[in-house]
Amino acid sequence: MSDIFHRSLNAIDPEIGALMNADLKRQQDQIVLIPSENYASPAVLLAQGSVLGNKYAEGYPGKRYYNGCEHMDGIEQLAIDRVKALFGADHANVQPHSGSQANVAAFLALLEPGDRIVSMKLDHGGHLSHGIPANLAGKLYDVQFYGVNQETGRIDLNEVADIVKRHQPKMVIVGGSAYPRTLDFKPWREIADSVGALLLADVAHIAGLIAGDAHPNPIPYADVVTFTTHKTLRGPRGAVILCKEAHAEAIDKAIFPGLQGGPFMQSIAARAVNFKEAMEPEFKTYQRQIIANAAAMAAGLVVEGFDLISGGTDNHLMLVDLSERAYSGRQAADRCEEAGIVVNRNTVPFDRRSAFITSGLRPGSPATTTRGMKETEMRQIAKWIAVAVQKDTGSKGRAKIKEEVREMCARFPIYPDLDYTV
Ligand SMILES: Cc1ncc(COP(=O)(O)O)c(C=O)c1O
Repeated sequence: MSDIFHRSLNAIDPEIGALMNADLKRQQDQIVLIPSENYASPAVLLAQGSVLGNKYAEGYPGKRYYNGCEHMDGIEQLAIDRVKALFGADHANVQPHSGSQANVAAFLALLEPGDRIVSMKLDHGGHLSHGIPANLAGKLYDVQFYGVNQETGRIDLNEVADIVKRHQPKMVIVGGSAYPRTLDFKPWREIADSVGALLLADVAHIAGLIAGDAHPNPIPYADVVTFTTHKTLRGPRGAVILCKEAHAEAIDKAIFPGLQGGPFMQSIAARAVNFKEAMEPEFKTYQRQIIANAAAMAAGLVVEGFDLISGGTDNHLMLVDLSERAYSGRQAADRCEEAGIVVNRNTVPFDRRSAFITSGLRPGSPATTTRGMKETEMRQIAKWIAVAVQKDTGSKGRAKIKEEVREMCARFPIYPDLDYTV
């Protein structure tokens, strides 16, 4: 491992080698609470950095536009079969380069320009690829939004049903990037059916929880399910589209040739490795621990006097509401980083500050759980955050926390076989 990642590259390209080493050290020494980040396994990293990236394989298994693809077919077919078994899906496309591409492909497959979509507002926890004005989907389609209830911080399904009835969309999107509560997909199917709409579930954030049976599965209810493979699922960067057989041909055509050329075969191999890992019994334990750790961190933050949107979390992330504080989400995140804790700022519903400054933090537990931290560490992290965000703590106070963070991190090596000193 260390040779592949460090020594050899250091000798060949010392500039990139040094930067790569520096980031490995940063990853090891910092506590990462960004809920969309994780540490892929050494097996996933090996497949990702392999010779498979040398091969062009436009098309799909058994129908390629390039010669020399017999092994590519085997790799892609394994990835398809494994992910279908993992989620119980009819059809899988494992080629999307990213979650945003997967969503655009679903739109291209199932909608015409000008068609109406109803999705969650970005500042209430949606995702930009669900149709903010600056996004391709926002420009091509007529997008209307639902949000969370101001009192409860939760999605009010009656309100969503009213919005859907009013706008009569062709597609309803459920799922987002900052919603801390369980999504029950059955009523979403009923809401979509009430106007004859398609239902797209974007489970990018919670795909690992679903695969580990720690969150309801949208497959029985959604026409199309999209997700990234690099968040709770703990795979390589990339995405997958699952769908009912009826949409299979349209989805495949939308990815290739609709949106992409050659698939990243090294990444598809790494996805296959990841799906195999996710089928192991330990993966269920890991996903349950992600939820237990998030719950412990949320409880710890509440003890420290923080308000959480919706009062807590059911999944791997939470939204800390700083609306009433003198400091912004941006200041809080910068102060945490100074203390060795990487957390991202996020808008909170009905935020009065801009999307760049924000009034929230969005901590999550996947990365810390991967390195073996448990509830005790989560409670300690909550305490550090409470001190780090205060202006009065100052640089000296934050430097002291950073040292304590580094000591805790040393007890939880991310890649024990790697030599950080090379
Ligand atoms: C809900 C959701 N959908 C889609 C995406 C987009 O994924 P990518 O960054 O791979 O384009 C994200 C990324 O954070 C997401 O949270």
